[in-house]
This record gives sequence, C-alpha cells and structure tokens, in this order.
Amino acid sequence: MMGKHLGRGLCLGSVLILLLGDTAWSAPLDGPALYAKECASCHGEDGRGSPEDTALTVPLPDFTDCLSNSSASTSDWTDVITNGGAFMDLSDQMPSFGEILSPEEIRTLLTYVRNFCQEEGWPLSDLNFPKPLFTSKAFPEDEAELKQDFIKGKKGTKEWTTTLAYEQRLGARGEWELNLPYTVKETHEKTTAGPGDLSLAYKHVLSTHTERRALTAAALEVVFPSGDRDRGLGDGTFAFEPSFLSGIALRQFVLQSQIQAVLPLDEDRADRQMRYRVAGSYLTSLFKRDLVPNLEVEFRHNLQGESSEVLLLTPQLYAGLRSRGHVALRIGAQIPIAGTDPFHYRIGAALVWEYLEGGLWW
Ligand code: HEC
Repeated sequence: MMGKHLGRGLCLGSVLILLLGDTAWSAPLDGPALYAKECASCHGEDGRGSPEDTALTVPLPDFTDCLSNSSASTSDWTDVITNGGAFMDLSDQMPSFGEILSPEEIRTLLTYVRNFCQEEGWPLSDLNFPKPLFTSKAFPEDEAELKQDFIKGKKGTKEWTTTLAYEQRLGARGEWELNLPYTVKETHEKTTAGPGDLSLAYKHVLSTHTERRALTAAALEVVFPSGDRDRGLGDGTFAFEPSFLSGIALRQFVLQSQIQAVLPLDEDRADRQMRYRVAGSYLTSLFKRDLVPNLEVEFRHNLQGESSEVLLLTPQLYAGLRSRGHVALRIGAQIPIAGTDPFHYRIGAALVWEYLEGGLWW
C-alpha cells in the first residue's frame, strides 16, 4: 500500500521536476543564498547598497546602520519587500517580490537583513507603540512635535499652551528631549501671555522582549522655572520628575503605562505629586499609518499639604497622516471624573513628525 503511494508520488515528482526544471525542486534557499540571489545586486553583498544596477537614481539604505535597520517595523518591511517600494511611499525602484518569493522566504530574508546590524541592544520598531496624549512612551524617538493644549479652568479661566517638543535618540537605548511651552491665559480681569516652564528630559530603555512585544524604560525630566510665575505662567520653581515607563502588546491591544513622581524644589510653589497613567490602544492593523483609538486613565494624588486626588479620563484618536505613518496626529479630551477637579476639561492635540523617516510633506 505504502510502496504503491510512494511509487506514484515519486513518479509524479519526477514529472514535475521535468516540467518545472530543477530550481523548483532544489532545497529551500537560506537567508544568505536568497539575499545573494534576489537582493545583493542592488543592496550589495555587505548590505550597504553598492548597486550593480547603475540605473538606480535613489540612494539605497545602509542595512548595517543599526538605527535605520531597527526603526522600520516588521510589517512595514514585509510590505515593502512583498509589494515594492511604491506601496510604502518609497521609490518604485525597489521591486515587489510577492510573486516570486513565498511569505516564508520573505520572513527568512527579513531576519537576514536585520542581522546586518551587528550591535546589540537596538530595540526594534515593532515595540514602538502609538504615543498617547499624556502617557509618555517607553520607546526612544527621533521626533518633533507641535502640541496644542486648551484648558477650560475653574472660575472661567481659559488657558492655551503651544509646546514645541524635540526628541533625539542617543545611542541604542537613550533619548533626550526638550519641551518649550508658550502659554496664553485668560481670566475675567486680564489676559497674559508668555513662555512657560521649559523642561529637559532623558529616557533610557531598560529591557525589551521583542517576541512578547514588551519593553520598559526609565526617564528623568527636569522642569526649569523659565515662566513668569507672578503673571500666572509657570510654577516658579525647579522640579524633578522621574518616571517608570512600560509598554506591552497583547494581540491587537496595547497597554502603556507611566508612574511619575513630581518633585518641586520649592514645595510652597508647587505640589509634590504622584501620577499614574495607563493608556489602552486598539490597533486596527499592524501599520503605523492607521487610525488607533486610545483611552487613557490618570490618577493623581498629592504627597503633601491638603490631600487631593483626581481621576482623569482621556478618550482620543491617533491617525497617521502619511502612508508610512511618520507624520501623525493625536487628538483627545481629558475629563475629570472623580476627586477634586483641577479644571472643567482639557483638549489636547499634537502633530508628530518622525523626522528621520521622511519629510513633513513628502
Ligand atoms: C533593482 C534593485 C533592487 C533590488 C533587486 C532590491 N531592492 Fe530593496 N530597495 C531598492 C531601492 C532603490 C530602495 C530604496 C527605495 C527608497 O528609499 O525610496 C530599496 C529599499 C528597500 C527596503 C526599505 C529600506 C528602508 O529604508 O525603508 C528594504 C527593506 C529592501 N529594499 C529590501 C530588499 C530585499 C529583501 C530585496 C531582495 C528580496 C531587495 N530589497 C531587492 C532597490 C532594490
């Protein structure tokens, strides 16, 4: 019985070999062989991009550069290889391989391409979850942000704050950040405007688990009394704000959290406070460009003076504006739902630009 099946199978096999030629029946190629066959003519044996194809007019990526190698997600690069550069807003000189290579071969190739980066410790962009409005994220970024914040305060005050934020990666795991706020404050009596308290921060990734899609980081933010406290702009004291940050994805759900202590130097001018933030996001797809609904919860309580606790809820949306998602918009409303309300409501919006990934408008 077995022999009969085997015989028929072998016979069919040899017919197929004759029909398809020997390539179809050779053992599946491993990463180096696949790369040498399909990619090296443009990307170079060494991954640095030394094209034999001299008709190429766009610069090729350097796969040995760990920063750029780790800053594209697995789904984005799978997409580029499967559907070609044009599909992801890159040049159509990067051909599509979806017809030639199986998904398994593309996975093998991608692992090989990632290994051109020879340094340890670079967190993969698969862990770069969509940034919530108020919870800081653990992943380090090269990012510029324009944030707009509106607070409808108690006793009819209104406060608009525009913040320019600049973030830059330092090495494999670090990032520094500068925040420059400008505030316009309106009360019944008068309107004041001017720079608020600027802040400088450093963040460091502590651990990453790419398979489990989880990471943790620690950050320290220092707030400088650059605003004019007498005019209601800024707290008028230095403050130290250490944070512990984490992110984890469970299928389509992403949970990001931040535990932050706010420690002003002059405790008569600002409250010592703990802030606990959790943001839950639902990823509608694996692509950075897609719409992501988020819900943030924040609990704050004072560590000194009169006890005050507040629970804030922030429903919001994150939307990629370019097809690779390197320009995105966040918008949401923060509402106090329990405790001593610090304000009626707050609207936050931010335009986020990952400046190394591409231009703002192209
Ligand atoms: C005919 C030349 C050519 C071949 C063959 C080729 N590529 Fe490319 N590839 C390009 C060019 C050109 C770009 C840059 C496109 C751009 O930046 O606009 C590119 C970009 C890429 C990118 C995106 C890099 C980034 O910075 O986001 C990846 C990933 C990639 N190629 C992988 C591969 C793999 C894997 C193979 C083999 C299966 C391959 N390429 C074969 C020309 C080629």
